[in-house]
Amino acid sequence: MEYRKAGRSDLELSILGLGCWSLGGGTYWGDSNPEDEKRLLHTAFDLGINYFDTAELYYDGRSEEALGRAIKELPRDRLIIGSKIFPTNAYYQQTLDHCEASLKRIDTDYLDLYMVHWPLNMRSLELATKDENILSNPPQVEDTVAALLKLRDQGKIRNIGVSNFGNYWMQEFERQGIMIAVNQLIYNLFSRAIEFEILPYCEQSDTGVIGYSGLMEGLLTGKYESLDDIPAHYCRTRHYHKDRSPQSRHGGEGCEKEMTEALHKIRKIADDEGIGMAELSIWWATRNKAITCVLAGTRSPERLKENVAGATAVLPDDIYQALDEVSRPVMDALGPYPDAYEHPSLDRTKLKV
Ligand SMILES: NC(=O)c1ccc[n+]([C@@H]2O[C@H](COP(=O)([O-])OP(=O)(O)OC[C@H]3O[C@@H](n4cnc5c(N)ncnc54)[C@H](OP(=O)(O)O)[C@@H]3O)[C@@H](O)[C@H]2O)c1
Repeated sequence: MEYRKAGRSDLELSILGLGCWSLGGGTYWGDSNPEDEKRLLHTAFDLGINYFDTAELYYDGRSEEALGRAIKELPRDRLIIGSKIFPTNAYYQQTLDHCEASLKRIDTDYLDLYMVHWPLNMRSLELATKDENILSNPPQVEDTVAALLKLRDQGKIRNIGVSNFGNYWMQEFERQGIMIAVNQLIYNLFSRAIEFEILPYCEQSDTGVIGYSGLMEGLLTGKYESLDDIPAHYCRTRHYHKDRSPQSRHGGEGCEKEMTEALHKIRKIADDEGIGMAELSIWWATRNKAITCVLAGTRSPERLKENVAGATAVLPDDIYQALDEVSRPVMDALGPYPDAYEHPSLDRTKLKV
């Protein structure tokens, strides 16, 4: 396993991290139980994965609790644990309190990385709450940052990170005098929007990048014969036609034709190379040196092993170019809008207020 330094921080993350959203079990990802979770986390550690990603939002804190249970017998100082605070909670005192609650659920004294889950704009807040007190008096960047700095001074968090932040929001936080260790954003063969503006900014400012949904919620593993087989709740993103999911809110036509064509070509490349599609997709995402770590989530140690095989595979450079080419029509169709769930005019990574 290769490890990469996250920007100017002292974090060294495995290039494949374990997304722990599905721990704790729930309707979005399906059942999970503590014994399997312990086996999964131990397998991940044994295979060299050191980054484990969770959030207070995931299953209302159950993901954090399950992660805490599953790592009990692993050496804490060799694990890098990241969690996230939701924007509706990012007031000064709430940030302190919510971090404390995350620490309690994970049962640890410190978080290696604490991220603000989405930018502090109205759209992020409106989607999560109807509380007029919050909407008329939203959290302010200065207060959130002051609280994060206090948590760092207290040793409760080691590094400050953000998630789903466009360049404007990164600069708003940096203006308060902090170094952002990591920005976490969607990145996979079908979600390349960060290549337009955010990755260049992160490279230039030496900021780490964690790519999430490395397997496009399972689509890039080849487990679906056609797009019609994908459960509707995974079809909320701009990739899919608005009518494919009742939870869809982007109002667009999607790029299903481009994805279907690209999937056939990716499958052919995988077959020719004699590796699985999940492995190939992880290999492609982790080959990008501007990305510190790619997150994939799974509840199965066997599938985790496939993903690790992808991160550690050695394939010729022309395969990288070929994958770049076959996925480019999807990238061009979706454009420079990293918020996969919203219409471009409401992209939360970009909206300033
Ligand atoms: N910051 C953010 O806003 C944000 C948003 C989304 C996600 N994330 C983070 O990113 C992590 C990963 O992304 P994600 O959970 O959205 O999706 P993902 O990792 O792209 O895909 C997960 C899906 O792929 C399946 N899978 C994994 N490996 C497989 C393999 N080798 N073969 C076949 N199927 C496989 C899993 O099923 P099984 O469980 O059945 O294997 C699951 O259904 C999350 O856990 C979370 O930590 C962050």
